[in-house]
Amino acid sequence: MNESPPFYATIKEQRRLSSPHSSKRTHHFELCLKNSGLTYRTGDCVKIHPTNSVEAVEHCLKRLGASGEEHIEIKGTSWKLFDFLHTQANLKRPPRSLEGNLSDTCAKFGKLMPRFYSIASAMEEVGQEVHLTVRYLDEGVCSQYLCEQAQIGSTVPISIYPCDHFKLPEDPHQPIIMIGPGTGVAPFRGFLQERIAKGAPGKNWLFFGEWTQEGHFFYQEFWQHLQKRGQLQLDLAFSRDQIHKIYVQDRIKEKGDLLWHWLQEGAVLYLCGDAKAMAPAVEKVLFEVCGRHLPPEEVIPYFKQLKEANRYQKDVY
Ligand SMILES: Cc1cc2nc3c(=O)[nH]c(=O)nc-3n(C[C@H](O)[C@H](O)[C@H](O)COP(=O)(O)OP(=O)(O)OC[C@H]3O[C@@H](n4cnc5c(N)ncnc54)[C@H](O)[C@@H]3O)c2cc1C
Ligand SMILES: NC(=O)c1ccc[n+]([C@@H]2O[C@H](COP(=O)([O-])OP(=O)(O)OC[C@H]3O[C@@H](n4cnc5c(N)ncnc54)[C@H](OP(=O)(O)O)[C@@H]3O)[C@@H](O)[C@H]2O)c1
Repeated sequence: MNESPPFYATIKEQRRLSSPHSSKRTHHFELCLKNSGLTYRTGDCVKIHPTNSVEAVEHCLKRLGASGEEHIEIKGTSWKLFDFLHTQANLKRPPRSLEGNLSDTCAKFGKLMPRFYSIASAMEEVGQEVHLTVRYLDEGVCSQYLCEQAQIGSTVPISIYPCDHFKLPEDPHQPIIMIGPGTGVAPFRGFLQERIAKGAPGKNWLFFGEWTQEGHFFYQEFWQHLQKRGQLQLDLAFSRDQIHKIYVQDRIKEKGDLLWHWLQEGAVLYLCGDAKAMAPAVEKVLFEVCGRHLPPEEVIPYFKQLKEANRYQKDVY
């Protein structure tokens, strides 16, 4: 099936969520979807098709000893060299040698691939917009493209990437427990916008973690507003506000019995964010917490049942 071409969404708003004094940079984006015909559901992702900066292309051209006006042929397609380097090649990962025939050298560049970002908004709340929460990574192609090249008023090629495995429950009475440290919190902003806009009566619980309360409490006002109105139970874990690390799973451990109680009430459990370290560590603690109430041999089957009933959903990366 041919994919439809990306829509060039205008950036309406772009601001840093983390403190300007922090070495960790996380940004909030608001993109305009007017006249795109695009729609999304909370829990979906946006696929971004990055391009390299003109400076990066010029640097590469210099190393290739080329002007950019040359024509190259890659897998039967003819390209102007500048355009190929701008839109097709991952310039962060150049081939070891840039010597020799231009077409052969360019064919050795890694492909500039699209990247995925969790949608941090709900159309019920923001209308024809889509919001994102993006962490800037050193040498990261797409996060640098967004956080450095893309300015308010400029356009970004996007498509919507539906994620059917990460969805709010159909029954609005069902409680939800959301675990989302760092950028993992993005889809939960969308979930809560939707639940509040629709007047969903189910209870909401968010575990959020970041470096420091002062410098990295993303979307603080939104969560605290809901908390004050009794619409959100909020548990926070700031890892670098004290000498020893405190992570979301420490808070889950502290509140384990209550979490078990919510699960008994039919809550849906969501986990989003870093796949490598965070997700397995949190899952281990979830097993421990449920293991306080179940015989050891029943813990894994219990989570299997939750998954089968769409009551344990993960979006980790
Ligand atoms: C379903 C899903 C949802 C996601 N949601 C979000 C989200 O909401 N927010 C978010 O911020 N991210 C999210 N991501 C991650 C996102 O898609 C990107 O993977 C992330 O932004 C990094 O992409 P990049 O192009 O910036 O980095 P890449 O270019 O892919 O680089 C990745 C890493 O490799 C390193 N690297 C690159 N080049 C080199 C080199 N030459 N030598 C050594 N190291 C190098 C970079 O420093 C970086 O750490 C999600 C991913 C998935 C799959
Ligand atoms: N390049 C890397 O080395 C690296 C590392 C992690 C994530 N990533 C990538 O960065 C993005 C996500 O980063 P992010 O800024 O959203 O979140 P993050 O790096 O996961 O940080 C969010 C919070 O989670 C904490 N954390 C670290 N290890 C943890 C663990 N084992 N269990 C629970 N919490 C833990 C962090 O604490 P501390 O940092 O204080 O320990 C921080 O307070 C993804 O793209 C991911 O793939 C890259």
